[in-house]
Formats: sequence, C-alpha cells, structure tokens
Amino acid sequence: MDHLFTVSLVSWHDGEPLLRAVRESVFIREQNVPPELEWDGLDETSRHALALSAKGDAIGCGRILPDGHIGRIAVVPQWRKQTVGTAIMEALLNDARAHGFKRVEVDAQVYAIPFYRRFGFEEDGEEFMDAGIPHRKMWLRL
Ligand SMILES: CC(C)(COP(=O)(O)OP(=O)(O)OC[C@H]1O[C@@H](n2cnc3c(N)ncnc32)[C@H](O)[C@@H]1OP(=O)(O)O)[C@@H](O)C(=O)NCCC(=O)NCCS
Repeated sequence: MDHLFTVSLVSWHDGEPLLRAVRESVFIREQNVPPELEWDGLDETSRHALALSAKGDAIGCGRILPDGHIGRIAVVPQWRKQTVGTAIMEALLNDARAHGFKRVEVDAQVYAIPFYRRFGFEEDGEEFMDAGIPHRKMWLRL
C-alpha cells in the first residue's frame, strides 16, 4: 500500500505550501537552482498538478502556464521511477487538451529528454543553459 499516490490539479492559492515544499526540496536544495529563478512569478496564473502519497505527503508536482508551457515537473527522490512523474505529465496533458491547446512545450533538462520522449515530445533547437543546467526545448502536438 505504501506505493499508492494520487495526482490532482490545484490552483497556486490552494496548493502553495505543498507545491513549494516539493520544489524547494528538488530544485533549490537538490539541483541548486537559485530561489530567485525558481520563484519566477508565473505560479499564480499557472495550473498545478500535485502528487500526494496515501499518507498525505507531497511527493511531486508540475505546472502548465496559460500559454501551454509545461514545467517544474518534480518528484522527490524516494518516489522516483514509480510512475509519479508520468501521472503528473498525464494530468497536465489532459488539462491542456481540455483547454483546447493544440501544442505544448517543455524546457527539458537534457538528462530528462528520454522521460519526455515517452509522451511523444520532440526536441527543437540547440541546447541552452538555464539556472546552470543544460536544457533543450521540446514540443508535442496534442
Ligand atoms: C524527471 C522526473 C520528474 C521523472 O519522474 P519519475 O516519477 O521518476 O518518472 P516515472 O517513474 O513516471 O518514469 C517513467 C519512465 O521514464 C523513465 N525515466 C524517468 N526519468 C528518466 C530519466 N531521467 N532518463 C531516462 N528515463 C527516465 C523511467 O525509467 C520510466 O521508464 P520505465 O517505465 O521504462 O522504467 C524525476 O526524475 C525528477 O523529479 N527529477 C528531478 C527534477 C527534474 O529534473 N525535473 C525535470 C525538469 S525538466
């Protein structure tokens, strides 16, 4: 039963403390993303996916911006490789479809490109640096 989790879509207003906890842990502490880059002012207008364990712990998150850009996909280390990231992406892609988007984009960390390819995302353009981490743009037609 320990591996059970749920993913739901939440507003920043409703999910902020739990979403912040995951992103502080994964991006700021684990990946050394500067806080001023992590908190970019785009959360209030985004829709967020929040993964919770059966115990109610926040274990993963992601967001979609009003323009269809998906990002901030994060799963805490002890829950990786257990399909939480996939469930977060599926929730955000379903939300994009429900809102009529024909195309979504991600700025993928290069190491995570295979994760996004699994959903059909394709790389676009050259590698670039963001927060000291190599990235590539990827896009998916819905
Ligand atoms: C990338 C991340 C969100 C994936 O989450 P996850 O919960 O481990 O993903 P899943 O368990 O749903 O993985 C689905 C599949 O993708 C694969 N996968 C996951 N991360 C991968 C990676 N970095 N490279 C290659 N394959 C990967 C898994 O092995 C799995 O494949 P399988 O079913 O054949 O075993 C997670 O590793 C993470 O939080 N990383 C740190 C934050 C980060 O870098 N986010 C991405 C920013 S662009």
